[in-house]
Amino acid sequence: MRVFAVANQKGGVGKTTTTVNLAAPLAVAGRSTLILDLDPHGSLSSYFGFDPDIEEDSTYRLFQNSNKDPINLIRNTGVERLDIIPAHSALATLDRQLGAKEGKGLVIVNALEKIRKKYAYVFIDCPPVLGVLMVNALAACERLMIPVQSEFLALKGLEGMVRTLNMITSAKGTSLPYTIIPTMYDQGIDVARDSLQLLKDTYPYNIWDDVIPFDSQFKIASEKGVPLAVFNPRSQGSIAYRKLLTTLLRITYELDQKTAAVA
Ligand SMILES: Nc1ncnc2c1ncn2[C@@H]1O[C@H](COP(=O)(O)OP(=O)(O)OP(=O)(O)O)[C@@H](O)[C@H]1O
Ligand SMILES: [Mg+2]
Repeated sequence: MRVFAVANQKGGVGKTTTTVNLAAPLAVAGRSTLILDLDPHGSLSSYFGFDPDIEEDSTYRLFQNSNKDPINLIRNTGVERLDIIPAHSALATLDRQLGAKEGKGLVIVNALEKIRKKYAYVFIDCPPVLGVLMVNALAACERLMIPVQSEFLALKGLEGMVRTLNMITSAKGTSLPYTIIPTMYDQGIDVARDSLQLLKDTYPYNIWDDVIPFDSQFKIASEKGVPLAVFNPRSQGSIAYRKLLTTLLRITYELDQKTAAVA
């Protein structure tokens, strides 16, 4: 099982869209894939018709009872082999509730361990805030995907996210690889081109060398509750996410090879 998290402390940058459109092509290609909604707003859950205000079987249950078997919380998204554990809005209360409780950062690690054999891939959609949910996602994943909108303000949000990442990983004495994904890119806009260049100059080793274009079909697909990758696999947006997925799988495979060579 391979686990990836999608996060950025800035809102509305394409985190949920990235989660949906990286996971869906894997399911379509025959790989059992699970998406976890850790955002109390539950946009990922709403995307697939689950209501985060009333959802009983949700990721919140895992935090209430850390021995809970996630298998009973899993639902299908309507896309074959693409399953979801939806969010509940009560996730927003966790930081206050859990306080300094021991093991609170490893709830998702432990839950995924119980379903390790069932899924080839897991994608975790994170809320745009630093807290126990983000800490859990970072602990559980092997790589963090950070979508960034191609605009100047995005750079500030990204700095915050990278600082958070470094803070969490250095506290644990580990490091977590990350990939920055320029999203909603419109090459006809000067400021988009300039800010993309600035992103490349600032993070030359961590930025994906392509972009997710602005594509109005993402909105249409989300209104229909279907991943764009399924609704219109030939759209520019779908093609771009498949390219990103190919890059993601290649770099994780290459890292595996290197680790195997060292071991
Ligand atoms: N490449 C794109 N082209 C056009 N629209 C997009 C693109 N990516 C995302 N969107 C739209 O932008 C809006 C915000 O995207 P999304 O919900 O994925 O962001 P988010 O980072 O998860 O937001 P939040 O922080 O609120 O969870 C949505 O309406 C989505 O359909
Ligand atoms: Mg979201």
